[in-house]
Amino acid sequence: MPVTYELAHEAVVARLSTDGAAHCERVAEMAAEIASVYRVDPTGARLAGVLHDWHRETDVGELLRRAETGDVAITEIDRAVPYLLHGPVAAHDLALEYPDIGSDVLEAVAAHTCGAPVMSALSMTVYVADVIEPGRRYARASELRGVVGDVTLGELFARAYSASLRHLIETRRRLHPVTFEVYNLHVAGVRP
Ligand SMILES: [Fe+2]
Ligand SMILES: [Fe+2]
Repeated sequence: MPVTYELAHEAVVARLSTDGAAHCERVAEMAAEIASVYRVDPTGARLAGVLHDWHRETDVGELLRRAETGDVAITEIDRAVPYLLHGPVAAHDLALEYPDIGSDVLEAVAAHTCGAPVMSALSMTVYVADVIEPGRRYARASELRGVVGDVTLGELFARAYSASLRHLIETRRRLHPVTFEVYNLHVAGVRP
């Protein structure tokens, strides 16, 4: 059976907490909204949005185990902070769960936490939606919600990534090595 939003949503509601599933619903709606503004496939955006946190509540030992058996790349930082693997492991497991799911959707799910050197428009859409969904109440999120459609999608992504990075630095979290690559490729030097 082809994976539809309804099917994916049902599975997400069954596996995540009420708050977790509600966040996924808001990301799906926000991703569809951003997609329609920037002429990105809204169906794929909504599907990736609802599925992005498939492994957000999975035990860290289980995440590492799944990454190891699923041949998902694991860095030293992933071992220290296995939560960072919840996107890539979700993409791996969703491909098995829904064999007909689009590779663009899987890429967007994989890249939603740290980004990726190659960011498609769909991946940027889902990344931004996760940062600015209406449940995110901090000032930077509402500022970003206010410029959807006024700046390019690349610029919106650059601002959202930069906001996430500032938060990581302010709270003195570890940075994943891919962050440097994504920052240099998609954030530094990108002009509105
Ligand atoms: Fe996430
Ligand atoms: Fe999320």
